[in-house]
Amino acid sequence: MIKGKRILITAGPTKELIDPVRFISNASTGKMGYAIAELLYSEGADVILVTGPSCINSNLPSERVYKIQSALEMLEVCNKHFQQIDIAIFTAAVADYRPMKMEASKIKKNDDRMTIELIKNPDIAFEFGKIKNPNQISVGFALETDNLMQYGEGKLKKKNFDFIVLNTTNATGEGFGHDTNKVSVLRKDLTHTDFELKSKKEVAQDIVAEINTAIALKSLTNH
Ligand code: C5P
Repeated sequence: MIKGKRILITAGPTKELIDPVRFISNASTGKMGYAIAELLYSEGADVILVTGPSCINSNLPSERVYKIQSALEMLEVCNKHFQQIDIAIFTAAVADYRPMKMEASKIKKNDDRMTIELIKNPDIAFEFGKIKNPNQISVGFALETDNLMQYGEGKLKKKNFDFIVLNTTNATGEGFGHDTNKVSVLRKDLTHTDFELKSKKEVAQDIVAEINTAIALKSLTNH
């Protein structure tokens, strides 16, 4: 069922420049998104990976991979594909804010204090959620330190996801930078499944299985 589906995946962190040599970013490595993209590609999907800076050498053909730096660049690439895709998977850890302006030259350390004014970045998943048609599937991710289900449900609804993959930073081996992940999947109908701690490659298999279920559900309800 995955074969031939046009699937957009966002991955990695974004990098928001303060000046030519400094930036705001986060600890995302892109492992989860790359694992999903590679699995879907191996199953015959028409994959587009839009990735922030990552050290991973993926085995995807280079024309399938769009390397971007900032959230604005990620949104620009995604916007070009949103109409044509069947499925969007938002694994990227997009920086919530970016500096109001990037200084053209390296900032000098003249003052004891300095302030950088930040402005909110666009929410790429939310933008897709607003325009997505009934046949399109949207999958989100959320990393929370507490109130996992409550915050997860809020994001699921706000961003119009078909399901959201939740993980906490509570257990060892979960989340950013690790090779393993312990996730729960929360669906639109508010049913959820809690998975065991697994490698990110195995988590990718569970997520692809969940996508297959979502595709089957769509074809039942939309025909
Ligand atoms: O609100 P929060 O950042 O936790 O939401 C996480 C989900 O939304 C992830 O799927 C993430 O990729 C997506 N997101 C996005 N653009 C943003 C912020 C989050 O696509 N600016």
